[in-house]
Amino acid sequence: MTPTTQPPGASSSPARVVVLVSGTGTLLQALLEACVDPSYGVAVVAVGADRDRIAGLDRARDRGLPTFVVPLREHADRASWDVALAEALAEHRPDLVLSAGFMKILGPAVLGRFVVVNTHPALLPSFPGAHAVRDALAHGVRVSGCTLHRVDAGVDTGPILAQRAVAVLPDDTEESLHERIKAAERELLVQELPRLLGR
Ligand code: GRF
Repeated sequence: MTPTTQPPGASSSPARVVVLVSGTGTLLQALLEACVDPSYGVAVVAVGADRDRIAGLDRARDRGLPTFVVPLREHADRASWDVALAEALAEHRPDLVLSAGFMKILGPAVLGRFVVVNTHPALLPSFPGAHAVRDALAHGVRVSGCTLHRVDAGVDTGPILAQRAVAVLPDDTEESLHERIKAAERELLVQELPRLLGR
């Protein structure tokens, strides 16, 4: 996926990624650690959220990265929130926007302007939505996993970019399975992101 904003011949400079988070931010942390190596070819240039006082933003601030918060409740409706989020993202000139535990549906203002990739804790197209791990367990699957996919207008319906399987154990709870899936998500994300950005 070649970002439209990247000028020809610029591939030697790190690709600019803005990460969107809503919570703990362990996926963000894994990416930040990978980005320390200049040969990785990717730089997280800012971190955005839909709420303040979350660990994900603290992880960014600890590294001196710019952060921004665009809360839905501060906007009259979803459409104006979407436009405000697109404006906040544009300030950081991302080659790619990564939704990593961002729990809001993105709208046309963001999706029409940026390449957006999401990481999801299930093997799509099975178990889309906000309760993927719970739904997979309730269905009794023996294998679940994680998916890196391009975001489109649907809920977890965009083209699949990469996946990794995770076995479901007989005594798994939602929490234990999600923790193992998140470990796989971190690995998959760090491995695949440079490739997606042509690095
Ligand atoms: C991940 O499983 C992600 O797929 C889901 O939320 C989790 C985020 O974890 N949407 P963290 O906040 O990065 O620890």
